[in-house]
Order: sequence, then C-alpha cells, then structure tokens
Amino acid sequence: MTRRNILLNPGPATTTDSVKKALIVPDICPREKEFGDLMQEIRKDLVEIAGGDKNYTSVLFAGSGTAVMESTISSVVPPNKKILILINGAYGIRFAEIARTYNIEVVELNFEFGKRIELKQIESILRADEEIACVAVIHHETTVGILNPIKEIGEITKAYRKTFIVDTISSFAGVPINIKDFNIDFMMSTSNKCIQGMAGVAFIICKKSALEKLRSFKARNYYLDLFKQYEYLEKNNQTRFTPPVQIIYALKQAILELYEEGVENRINRYKENYRILKDGLKKLNFKFLMKVDVEESNILTTIHYLDHPNFNFDILHDKLYKKGFTIYPGKITDLNTFRIAVMGAIYPADIKNFIKTLGNVLKEMGIN
Ligand SMILES: Cc1ncc(COP(=O)(O)O)c(C=O)c1O
Repeated sequence: MTRRNILLNPGPATTTDSVKKALIVPDICPREKEFGDLMQEIRKDLVEIAGGDKNYTSVLFAGSGTAVMESTISSVVPPNKKILILINGAYGIRFAEIARTYNIEVVELNFEFGKRIELKQIESILRADEEIACVAVIHHETTVGILNPIKEIGEITKAYRKTFIVDTISSFAGVPINIKDFNIDFMMSTSNKCIQGMAGVAFIICKKSALEKLRSFKARNYYLDLFKQYEYLEKNNQTRFTPPVQIIYALKQAILELYEEGVENRINRYKENYRILKDGLKKLNFKFLMKVDVEESNILTTIHYLDHPNFNFDILHDKLYKKGFTIYPGKITDLNTFRIAVMGAIYPADIKNFIKTLGNVLKEMGIN
C-alpha cells in the first residue's frame, strides 16, 4: 500500500487505494471495443451525475481542466460573435485570456476577486449588445472559494437566448449542480477534483442541441475541436487521438465509488470537513478572506497569514508536508494568503488530525 498523503490543495485530490489500484490493468489498445465501451459508460455516468438526460452528452479529452476550458471557448463561440465573461477571480481571467488567444471578441464584466457577481449588470450588458452570443462564468472560483450564482445567471442567459458556459471544474460532484435546471449548455470538469480520480482526463458535458450548432463552424484549432471529438466518439466509440488509458480505468473506479457513497453524501462529507476546518482555524486565530455576504463553496477557503513575526508560509508548508499534509499558496498577488481545500478521499477525522498537527507546528515555530 502506498503512503496516504492528505492533499489540502484544490486538486489533484487525495485518492482511495482502490482508485490507485485501478490504474494497473492488462495492456489494451484503446481502439478495442472493450475500451470504447468503457468510455461510453463513463460518458453516460458523467451526464447522469450532472443531472442531464437523453438530451445531453459528454465528451472526453486527454488533458487538464484548462484543455477543456480552451476546447469549449474555441469551439462554441460562433464566428464574428462575442462572448461575455463574468470575472471575480483568476479562472475567470483565464477564460478571457483563452478567448483572446483565438481573437474572439470578449466583453468582460469584472468584479473584485471574491466579490459577488451583480446580476443586474449582466442583464444590462446583454440588453445593449446583441453581438454577444455566449456567457461564461466559473462556478466555484477556486482562487478564493466563492460559489457564483449559476442558477440565477442561467435564468438570465435563457431569457436572452445566450449559450451558457460554466466552468464546474472544482465543483462538479462536490456542490449541487443540475445542468437542466440551471440552463447550462456546456459545463466542464476533470477526473482529479471532486470526482476523486487521477489527473489526465477532462470532460465537457453538453446539451446536444447546443453541440449540434457547432457542426457548421470553422474549427479554430485542431486537437481541441469539441464537435469533431464528439462526432468521432459517437461514430467510432474512440477518441480521435490517444487517450490516457489507465487514467480512464481509474476514473471508472472513482465514479463507482462516487455512486457507492452517493453524490449527496459526498457533498455533505465535504461540508462537514469544511466546518471542522474553519472552526479549527478560527480557534488558532486565523482570519478568512471571504466576507459573510457571499456564498462559500464549502470546499475551499482562503486564509490570511497570521500577523506574527514568526509566521512564514514556506516553513509552515514544509513542516506540514513532512507530516503528510499539503497546504496550498494563495492566488491573489497583492495579499498574503494561503488556501486549504477539503475535496478528495479525506474525512472528518483527517481534518481533525490536520488541525491538531497545525497547532503543534505553529507552537514549534514559536507562535502561540
Ligand atoms: C475553477 C477552475 N478552473 C480551471 C482550473 C484549471 O485546471 P487545470 O489546472 O487542471 O488545467 C482549475 C484548477 O484548479 C480550477 O479550479
């Protein structure tokens, strides 16, 4: 058995031994029917977990989360149309950077990192600019731990008949999401976050009618062409290019374990982990970045450095790392913060143990 590390970074997350073991399978050519059938099952499972039905499908790509963000943006925005991107964190900025890389015209609606997205402002932009065809937003902005109101945004995009793109990379299977009820056309995630598989495969869950519209669009790139990958999967039961075979076996195992636990129970386990984490950190005098007037993800929190001359994040990280706990740096350049996430195969007892260890390490550093 491999050593069990508790990863408190927001993915790749801690996996179970059974998911690790699922990587070891007899060698198989991914063009064999047996492997194609496995991918078909996974594609169906992903739609089901997202709350979709026969009107939805999913498409797999080898790659990380950014690959499917890029595939979606480069494939979905119609030629000569604009995309509205709602930004309150670093991943929203990434959406805009991807669009600009493809010379897609972007309208940005910016809010301070971690601040609430104002729905009225979305409406007034959509009302004023008919050239906007798509709206994109991050569900769980992992920069800070805020949950954006995708249900309410989906009502607006539906009313204005815009294609709705949601990055659910760090929320899928960890926060309640329903692709139908939220009027989402394209949502994306990866194998290695709340689904608790291994890093290397990413996926887009799509409304079929929205996907069909892409058929006539000229491709903006080669490898990440969403429609071509979909068509190839449908026709041939294969991805266009070599998939990460073993990672896909591990993903199937991770999905089985998600069904065994139940999505709702998983969401509740993360909530409980998060509650124990925040209570423990408060007792150790840590202060949080997020204000109370926004919705927290219950998966990740951003924490200010302690105001003490002996506090040093790198030393704290290294000491905790040696004891099997990985904490994560902040992503806000002008503030001294770090982040802790509770996704993955980690349980309330692990978080209690972490808080105890953190207290001891702070004492070692001369911080009482
Ligand atoms: C919300 C969100 N989007 C996109 C990404 C990028 O994913 P990757 O690093 O796998 O490319 C992340 C990674 O943490 C994320 O949390």
